[in-house]
Amino acid sequence: MQLPLQRFYQDRQSARKAQDPMAAVCVLATVDSTGQPQARTLVLRDVPEGLAIYINASSPKWQQSQGRVVIQTWWPSVQIQYRMQATCQELPAEHIAESWQLRPDVPQRLDWLYQQQAQGSVVSDREELLQRLQGAPAPQPLVAPEGARGLLLIPDEVERLDLNQDNGVHDRLRYELRGDTWQMHTLIP
Ligand SMILES: Cc1cc2nc3c(=O)[nH]c(=O)nc-3n(C[C@H](O)[C@H](O)[C@H](O)COP(=O)(O)O)c2cc1C
Repeated sequence: MQLPLQRFYQDRQSARKAQDPMAAVCVLATVDSTGQPQARTLVLRDVPEGLAIYINASSPKWQQSQGRVVIQTWWPSVQIQYRMQATCQELPAEHIAESWQLRPDVPQRLDWLYQQQAQGSVVSDREELLQRLQGAPAPQPLVAPEGARGLLLIPDEVERLDLNQDNGVHDRLRYELRGDTWQMHTLIP
């Protein structure tokens, strides 16, 4: 049996080759403190240890991602969906310090703004936002602020749905990590 993450990387590579813009992202689903589901698109990064997401600790999704999360990907170019349940492990500060330097200017400045005012908090209008961004701290040399964080995703359940079947019957597989071993089940699609 091919391991689910190897399969994920292969499929994602096919989507990238097909210039699928969705190959870069995932949807991260969490549950907030009131039990309300929350979902948003995030860039899904390849890091040497596996798959990772970068988020700011001022966002509620940081707290929401300390336990289990779900990510979902859909690549129209290859007609494949993945759903993964994962636990998260914080990426070391050295990793963030290095990768943060590669962020474009505006996201870097926003990360510093979040040190003063949380991501997702309300401002009176866009003009005020731009002013605040202008006035955000910009220490020299410009380094990652404390709130810039990242999470390594450690999946233990992976579902692959392949719509691209000649007979029209979708291929749906679920992989479950039991101890050190992945078990695979075929599901009714
Ligand atoms: C294509 C795309 C990529 C995104 N990538 C990220 C990302 O890597 N990190 C991030 O915090 N938000 C990213 N966002 C914005 C999030 O979807 C979301 O709007 C933001 O993080 C606020 O979410 P929150 O209310 O859960 O904090 C991205 C949005 C889009 C449309």
